[in-house]
Amino acid sequence: MRHLFLILLGLFIGIFGTVMAISAWQSGAGPNVQRGAMAVLAHHSAALRADLEAGRCAAATVLPHIEAMQAVAAHLEPMFLPTGDDASFERESRAFRDVLAAARGIGSDDCSAVRPVVGDVNAQCRSCHQIFR
Ligand code: HEC
Repeated sequence: MRHLFLILLGLFIGIFGTVMAISAWQSGAGPNVQRGAMAVLAHHSAALRADLEAGRCAAATVLPHIEAMQAVAAHLEPMFLPTGDDASFERESRAFRDVLAAARGIGSDDCSAVRPVVGDVNAQCRSCHQIFR
């Protein structure tokens, strides 16, 4: 009876230790650059939405957010590859850079001109997430 208890205890400690080791290994040694990059994109996307809702659509307000997203978008492949489907990831990343490049032209006091461009940027977030997230 006592031996059985010790065997079960050893088994339990072994399983527990393995689970802890695997989760420590998966969490990596430092901050996760992929989630960090996405957090930056999410911040600027939310800031743009807030600006639109508040009726702030001048280039000086909108452009810094677009530029910050462009800086992240330029490095998506080195941060994410390899994926299960690198060709699609590269295609989605290029399309994202294209809508951002097109969005550089925005910024007028007329929010109705800015809204569809911001919509295009957000649509490209969703397009990549549908495949990869
Ligand atoms: C080319 C692909 C691609 C594009 C474009 C993209 N994402 Fe992502 N995103 C991903 C992938 C892949 C993940 C999953 C990352 C992970 O869980 O490690 C992700 C995850 C996220 C997450 C969750 C992060 C977390 O901590 O779980 C947020 C938020 C996010 N993306 C926001 C955005 C926003 C906002 C945009 C557009 C402005 C965007 N993403 C554009 C590929 C993309």
